[in-house]
Amino acid sequence: MSSLFDFDKAPDEYAVMGNPIAHSKSPQIHALFAEQTRQNIRYRAIQVDPGGFAQAVGNFFASDGKGLNITVPFKQEAWQLANELSERARLAGAVNTLKPTADGGLFGDNTDGIGLVRDLVENLGISLANRTLLLVGAGGAARGVIAPLLEHQPRQLTLVNRTMDRAHELVQQFAGIGKLDAKSFAALEGGQFDVVINATSASLQGDLPPLPSSTMVHAQLVYDMMYGREPTLFLQWARQQGAAKVSDGLGMLVEQAAESFFIWRNIKPDTAPVIQRLRSSL
Ligand code: ATR
Repeated sequence: MSSLFDFDKAPDEYAVMGNPIAHSKSPQIHALFAEQTRQNIRYRAIQVDPGGFAQAVGNFFASDGKGLNITVPFKQEAWQLANELSERARLAGAVNTLKPTADGGLFGDNTDGIGLVRDLVENLGISLANRTLLLVGAGGAARGVIAPLLEHQPRQLTLVNRTMDRAHELVQQFAGIGKLDAKSFAALEGGQFDVVINATSASLQGDLPPLPSSTMVHAQLVYDMMYGREPTLFLQWARQQGAAKVSDGLGMLVEQAAESFFIWRNIKPDTAPVIQRLRSSL
């Protein structure tokens, strides 16, 4: 009976803020979660102008908004704005989930890393413990997943990036958590890895990061955080080099959303049917 009663009330308001935002899949994902778990919510996409982020967040929560997802380019600003951070958000230096606290403050979390790890471990059945992992890229996308990957105690996590300084900085920051090192693309020649994860934005420019093909030959899984209707250029190349299995980042997208939904509603949606629905609508 309580669900009938709940649906007589106005829905709780959620949104994703970013720029651009028109192509965000988050409204569709959260609508599917809400339907599946019978939660009375509304989830919108809000485009925010550069410079207008803090104001937009303030307005949203002042009008009784219950939770926000934050995407490019505002994740660092959201990190600064939150006055309470989860440990994983603190380490990531970025926030993708905001929730108001009882005393009128803002709690910030980052669900990207756990989203990736759940996709790898639960959906794709890849064990990370004692494996050699290669993370390509050292920008925000890479930073957010380092600690959750290290939590699974890989034998080694190697970062490779075009700009070496950025990779070295990340190694310095996270070295205390697990076995982490940085290499240049050239230094990877001959190196082999069990799992390779692309966290660069190279494919947005139709580019491939210059990985030697040795990194692919024995890879159990090559993963691209990007996704699309067709396999990304990176995944097509990985397959040609002999990678046993490839996956794009659609599962990660749905898993990070599921963790945000859990933070807000305290209910874990079943992600598999949502991933399937999204895949067929790409
Ligand atoms: P994000 O927050 O999406 O990670 P970012 O901070 O701009 O965005 O980082 C983009 C990442 O993709 C960086 O690791 C970048 O390498 P540099 O640090 O050397 O710039 C990487 N990247 C972008 N285009 C690339 C390309 N064509 N080849 C290789 N790496 C590329």
